Amino acid sequence: MIAFYQDKIKKAPDRVSLKAILIQAHKHFFNDYDASSPQVYFAPGRVNLIGEHTDYNGGHVFPCALPIGTYAAISLRDDDKLSVMSLNNDEGITSRSMTDIIEDKTERASNWASYVHGLVWALSQHGIDLKSGADILIYGDIPAGSGLSSSASLEVLIAYSLLDLELDYFNSSKKSREEILTMIAQISQYSENKYNGMNCGIMDQFASAFGSENQAIYLDTNSLAYSYVPFDLGDYALLVTNTNKKHKLIGSAYNDRRASCEEALKDLTSIKPELDALCSLTSKDFEEISSYIKNPEARIRAKHAVYENERTKQAVSLLKAGNLPEFGRLMYESHESLSHDYEVSCDELDAIVNIARTIPGVLGCRMTGGGFGGCTVAIIANDSIEEYKSAVEQAYTDKFGYAPSFYILKAGRGPYRL
Ligand code: GLA
Repeated sequence: MIAFYQDKIKKAPDRVSLKAILIQAHKHFFNDYDASSPQVYFAPGRVNLIGEHTDYNGGHVFPCALPIGTYAAISLRDDDKLSVMSLNNDEGITSRSMTDIIEDKTERASNWASYVHGLVWALSQHGIDLKSGADILIYGDIPAGSGLSSSASLEVLIAYSLLDLELDYFNSSKKSREEILTMIAQISQYSENKYNGMNCGIMDQFASAFGSENQAIYLDTNSLAYSYVPFDLGDYALLVTNTNKKHKLIGSAYNDRRASCEEALKDLTSIKPELDALCSLTSKDFEEISSYIKNPEARIRAKHAVYENERTKQAVSLLKAGNLPEFGRLMYESHESLSHDYEVSCDELDAIVNIARTIPGVLGCRMTGGGFGGCTVAIIANDSIEEYKSAVEQAYTDKFGYAPSFYILKAGRGPYRL
């Protein structure tokens, strides 16, 4: 039956039809024909334009939310059972009591459902107790393993929908919508850090929560001050290329990078006790004191964070001034630093960026997200897209034995009830 619904979804012409299919599937799998119609929610994935591995160093990031993401059809139950299933796999329904989830300390990223459980747990850790259980059917259209933040979109989706449906939180709490979205991003990050063991920064969850059509989000992760920057590229497009590389153990390599940055910061506070984050330093300050970082590996990681933060600030000014070519040049520079200094790229990502450099209509291209696989993001002239796709597809497939995938994407809106 999963295949039946997957097929129907593939043919759905728009979100209105998709909503109807998800409601039908929800009633079918949860046998909930008596229940009033489940409600359907959406939260987006994200792509980061520039500012990589700066978000846990108090730096700036410049992501946008995507039109793809995760959907949930949800109905409330009158007991304390939380039942979840996904139309993206055939694992069926997982059921646990809310009390059990809240008290459990052992489940860690063991399967996709632990992202849902983590959120319920994190809400309760923040004093938000949900009154009843729920039947939740999930469907996501972010390609698996693409690094376009399917987990952050799932977290934001669950937080947003449970707060809205169970607690009518947007109306009943004294907080503004903006304060609630910030809280959702923070609780989602907390759940990923503390429940699922991935020490990510706040970029992905913030981008998902604050998504806005045709706008990118310029965020200072130190203060959480943000602004929207129009992101309408005219004769150019935002082209995402998925390596389709199957990667493992990303979490531990990611956590290692973060630990190196923390080590560097600790060494630097011996000379600058007031320093609160690596990205509070300019590159000039950094060059003056970098020799205090004892471990050469930690020094080079810290260097990336500091320079990437400066690049991000500069890139946003260039974009606001309409200078796309220079914005693109900084994207290439960012990739070099991620590949050589931060060492989070891989042969597949480097190969795509190298081919992109040979195509005149590409203004810039870089790996996006955590790295070690996933996607590149490029800004490309509309009339160079076909040339790029065929050049990348051919050279990449010859080298790695399987093809990449391409997506032309626009900045999309944040979470909402359909
Ligand atoms: C992952 C993390 C983010 C961020 C990026 C790298 O996507 O979830 O918090 O650190 O990697 O910029």
